[in-house]
Amino acid sequence: MDYEKLLATRTANMKASAIRELLKVAASPGMISLGGGLPSPDSFPLELMHELTERVLRKYGAAAMQYDMTEGFGPLRRALIDYCATKGVDAKLENIYISSGSQGFLDAIGKVLVSPGDIVAVEGPTYLAALQALNAYDARYAMIQTDDEGLIPESLEYVLRTNEVKFVYTIPTFQNPSGKTIGLKRRIAIADIIQRYNVLLIEDDPYSSLRYRGEHLPTIKSMAPEHVIYVSTLSKIFAPGLRIGFCVAPEAIGKWLTIVKQGVDLHSSTYAQALGAEYLLGGFVPPQVEKIIKIYQPKLDAMLLALEQNLPDGYKWSRPEGGMFLWVEGPKGLDMEDVYHIAVKKNVAFVPGKYFFPNPADGIETMRLNFTCVTEEQIHYAIKALAEALQEETLLVNHA
Ligand SMILES: Cc1ncc(COP(=O)(O)O)c(C=O)c1O
Repeated sequence: MDYEKLLATRTANMKASAIRELLKVAASPGMISLGGGLPSPDSFPLELMHELTERVLRKYGAAAMQYDMTEGFGPLRRALIDYCATKGVDAKLENIYISSGSQGFLDAIGKVLVSPGDIVAVEGPTYLAALQALNAYDARYAMIQTDDEGLIPESLEYVLRTNEVKFVYTIPTFQNPSGKTIGLKRRIAIADIIQRYNVLLIEDDPYSSLRYRGEHLPTIKSMAPEHVIYVSTLSKIFAPGLRIGFCVAPEAIGKWLTIVKQGVDLHSSTYAQALGAEYLLGGFVPPQVEKIIKIYQPKLDAMLLALEQNLPDGYKWSRPEGGMFLWVEGPKGLDMEDVYHIAVKKNVAFVPGKYFFPNPADGIETMRLNFTCVTEEQIHYAIKALAEALQEETLLVNHA
């Protein structure tokens, strides 16, 4: 049977992601991968899970095994009201929705808001899986320029002035992929712009709790509550495998997020949500975040030092104060995908940065580095090998 012929036009137009092929190599034995984006398994609260499981069974019993509301498990939604307040997000129960990971919302928002050809304004670079989710709804993109401090408000304003934008999508803090953070002044300017242009903004915030130094910054949601859907997750501060994402949205949109979720999975796992509720209610978040920071901070510092020691003139990189990624920009003309192929021969993998741009002709000379799943020794070895690969590629280009 010709199964391909059965595919919906929408599905047939989807491309298998080239990055998947690259990352298959990254998973081969002996490879030091700076290419993934997983939290470190050492950061998971395995011990605590016994206690949480016990609490869930005692407190909720069969209710934790039962079908539940699409909006989310009540105790978790209520616990999230206080958690959101720590982010300056003023949430009421009816504004909080749970999904299977925050990824679930990126898809649901696409499904609810994007008609084929609609324009979404995104930072260049941006989160690859957000593009993948929105691509399924035939979104088009207007790219907002970024610099060392992330999204440039003037560029956002230009994009809004010159396009009919359905919504803006941004990751203001320790962005994936760049590790960059939008500073306070810019956040204020962005909140002002979206209110003036009366446009909706999706603030995707998985990483802000993982701050290793510097001051916490207010969310854009706290500055323009009516114009922002705040999307976050317990994946980076608890366990990604439980797939607990949440958002704070105006009810008029939340209603539709709920309707489309009913068609997808009725609701996210009640049991996992009950574990999430007990995790928040038990006061376990602050010590767990402290533990995660203790694991990640030395790795980030090791990577920054290794870059300083090994990368030649002509390269620059982000200096994040938290999160899981940093971003390297090489000289114009350098193709990081070619460097990738040299680096994997030295058993080091990373992700070429062009995959994070809506237009893959952009960001050819960039790469994303992840530091959470490697040791400090591996980081030193890997960055040295990477510097050699960069040098070899530069020689090849100069002799071509
Ligand atoms: C920016 C961003 N948004 C969303 C997600 C999805 O996270 P989850 O679905 O585990 O909540 C990630 C995961 O890496 C991410 O980096």
